[in-house]
Amino acid sequence: MAGRLAGKVAIVTGAASGIGEAACRLFVREGVRGLLLADVNDTAGKAIEAELQAKKADVIFAHLDVSQEKQWIDIMQRLVDRWGRVDILVNNAGRGGVITRPPVEHTTEEALDMSFAINAKGALFGMKHVIPHMRKSGGGSIVNVVSIYTVVADVLGTAYAAGKGALRSLTRMAAVQYAAENIRVNGVFPGFVETGMTRELHSKPENRKHRIDLTPLGRLAVPEDIAYGIVYLASDESSYMTGTELVIDGGISSR
Ligand code: NAI
Repeated sequence: MAGRLAGKVAIVTGAASGIGEAACRLFVREGVRGLLLADVNDTAGKAIEAELQAKKADVIFAHLDVSQEKQWIDIMQRLVDRWGRVDILVNNAGRGGVITRPPVEHTTEEALDMSFAINAKGALFGMKHVIPHMRKSGGGSIVNVVSIYTVVADVLGTAYAAGKGALRSLTRMAAVQYAAENIRVNGVFPGFVETGMTRELHSKPENRKHRIDLTPLGRLAVPEDIAYGIVYLASDESSYMTGTELVIDGGISSR
């Protein structure tokens, strides 16, 4: 099938919900050759796997906790055994939630450790273990899903922003370190998106209003708004881009 991702083999983490799920649907629509959906949520991941397989896509789901390095090594082997190569990694898995929100003086070590383990370390492990495979096949594209909270600050989200801030730095480091090998590393910086992660937060009218008021376009994003940017950075259309910070925030950071 022709498409913007024709012939490419990809892995997307956090594929069972929200932005990752939307990206996987677009990847299939754009003719990806092979796609590994990775997530800790096996039930939701398997349901999406079945739905995409019914569309004749070569898609498999695999359990992956991105904070566990050993699991990354196993998953890369699975990818290469099945398709012989990997061209695209989307480090999308991430976690925020109640414990990551309080301001600095109420931020706990537990919240910081969790945020760094998933939002930063998890993505680093992904890059670390995909790069040797990309090198073998002459290059690749890594897309890290960062956050607008690394560009602008807010009252909520301290520990979350700390982990994502580390990911922003790791993205730029990797971009410079591997550009000569044609391995591109770019970041997508979403604003406020309606997903599983934000459902509870956005269900409170005062939070919702605060976030919409901060957004010049006057609405919250849907997952596809972000997924389109991921497809672009994953595809060869962005072949002259590395280290880019693609902000998709409805104008928040232009205020
Ligand atoms: P979501 O909660 O809908 O999806 C996240 C997925 O990641 C879930 O399926 C979850 O099971 C999975 N996941 C969580 N921990 C994992 C782990 N340790 N290993 C593997 N998978 C894991 O959330 P959403 O919003 O789609 O998040 C996707 C990315 O976008 C995250 O990195 C998030 O931080 C980022 N983001 C989201 C924003 C929003 O407003 N929703 C704003 C800025 C960034």
